[in-house]
Amino acid sequence: MLPPPSPEALAHSARLERVIAQAIEEAGGFLAFERYMELALYAPGLGYYAAGTRKFGADGDFVTAPEISPLFAQAIAVQVAEVFQHTQPQIVEFGAGSGALARDLLAALAARGVAVARYAIVEVSPDLRARQQQALAGLPVQWLDTPPSAFDGVMIANEVLDVMPVRLFVKRDGRVAERGVTRAGGALAFVERAADDVLRQAVDAIETTVGALPDGYGSEIGFVAQAWLRSAAEWLRHGLLLVIDYGFPRREYYHPQRLMGTIMCHYRHHAHADPLWLPGLNDITAHVDFSAAADAAQEAGLTLLGYTSQAHFLINCGVLQMLAAQRTPAHVAQAQRLLLEAEMGELFKVLAVGRGLPEPLIGFVRGDRRHTL
Ligand SMILES: C[S@@+](CC[C@H](N)C(=O)[O-])C[C@H]1O[C@@H](n2cnc3c(N)ncnc32)[C@H](O)[C@@H]1O
Repeated sequence: MLPPPSPEALAHSARLERVIAQAIEEAGGFLAFERYMELALYAPGLGYYAAGTRKFGADGDFVTAPEISPLFAQAIAVQVAEVFQHTQPQIVEFGAGSGALARDLLAALAARGVAVARYAIVEVSPDLRARQQQALAGLPVQWLDTPPSAFDGVMIANEVLDVMPVRLFVKRDGRVAERGVTRAGGALAFVERAADDVLRQAVDAIETTVGALPDGYGSEIGFVAQAWLRSAAEWLRHGLLLVIDYGFPRREYYHPQRLMGTIMCHYRHHAHADPLWLPGLNDITAHVDFSAAADAAQEAGLTLLGYTSQAHFLINCGVLQMLAAQRTPAHVAQAQRLLLEAEMGELFKVLAVGRGLPEPLIGFVRGDRRHTL
């Protein structure tokens, strides 16, 4: 049972639903799920990330690694420090959430004696940007309206790709259909239509790798995330892009037994699988297809520098030694959540792509799984 929303929250969701209903009407009764997800998460003033509820932490909807423990940022600092030996000492963080990673990464780099000439945040949500500015007041952080061009340094995106809108497909009688959103009986409902060429060809390409998908098989494709990686390749003239998120290589993502895709919603620490439930009140996410992400980055000219689990990455960066040096019951519990296979350690992956860096990067010296992509 999901906790009941307050009357104000219900009114907020109803306002967003009216915006979505209008978009459905303008689209002739079929709104592609990608557009629905964009509105549900980012409609100005109403979408989940664009409006003012508290999302992160114990009294929000979900907890991310930087919120769990400063050990996460301390380990990333080791990777950043290594890359800074070859680049300008600059960081751009995408989608900084509550600002916890920025705060702890700056502290960890300062503790290692590593100077940072510039820490910039690119955040699409005006509400979160305002909260970050409050949380990080007094720290040398700047906010950019648009990503930098010709950037030299380290770019980081932690749990950002999973909130980029996806298109949904389903196999029907050997053909590919697209799932979209309509209104039926006054409520939001899923609807299907024949896929266009772009979606059909993308599903064909998946089936070339994983084999024919069974009838009724549904999943999603992150075209927006792929486009974002191609853009990142343009922004990054020299240095590293670290993408940290939950997901799999293509063969695992589109495994024939994963019949329903990976869409997952988060509401007050409850996970559920209905993205049409009260839009605007919950996070909607899809796992990352890391093969597609790596392909997009490489096609745009970046080098694939590493791919491994979060546990391997953090351990390679010395998180266990850091834990030994500040061993409290709280830190042990935090480290377990970051590292254990049944927690974030295995489901979360770290992808490193970049330009002009020597290999191997410290975070990938053991357990590199590039060959699985
Ligand atoms: C799940 S939260 C993760 C926040 C934070 N990185 C963390 O780990 O706690 C996703 C964040 O990405 C932001 N976001 C989504 N798409 C983005 C984009 N294209 N560029 C920058 N930020 C984006 C959201 O507004 C939000 O701050």
